Amino acid sequence: MPPEAAKPALEQISYGLYVVGSKNGDEVNGMTANWLTQVSFEPRMVAVAVEAQSHTMANIRASRVFSVNVIAEEDTALIEKFVEPQRRAGNKLGGVAFRTGETGCPILEQATAWLECAVEQIVPAGDHELAIGRVVDGGAQREAEPLTLRAMGWSYGE
Ligand SMILES: Cc1cc2nc3c(=O)[nH]c(=O)nc-3n(C[C@H](O)[C@H](O)[C@H](O)COP(=O)(O)O)c2cc1C
Repeated sequence: MPPEAAKPALEQISYGLYVVGSKNGDEVNGMTANWLTQVSFEPRMVAVAVEAQSHTMANIRASRVFSVNVIAEEDTALIEKFVEPQRRAGNKLGGVAFRTGETGCPILEQATAWLECAVEQIVPAGDHELAIGRVVDGGAQREAEPLTLRAMGWSYGE
């Protein structure tokens, strides 16, 4: 198989678009992510594939927790803010309203819904690592359509 052959198929997989929150000690961070899914009913678990070299993955390895923020369709500026690497942007949460809950990871005020997860396993997956977390808390905070990768007109997967 030529390396590019599967690209159009991978681009047709549907995804949401989220801000994954993380922490390390007092430092909190957020990262735009779409490779995220529920993977178990009982216990409720979600998995997110995080770039192995990213600041977010370093935080998740250190703290063994992460949060998931569901972003509203109209909040495209918010999702853009969290695309920048932490090493370049510094504190991406500066000027963004958030609170912390059970895990200490950021829960954005603008999120339509949120989850907090305790990491059960970190599985190497090529240039990413799959962080599999048990849902320890979560809720919906306002009514709005969730943003999707397709609606944003972006792609991350080829
Ligand atoms: C549309 C889109 C989706 C993305 N999805 C993911 C993802 O699922 N996992 C990931 O590790 N990075 C993803 N990224 C890249 C991260 O957002 C980017 O590398 C970010 O700078 C990492 O932030 P950090 O340095 O704070 O960890 C995505 C980027 C875009 C534009």
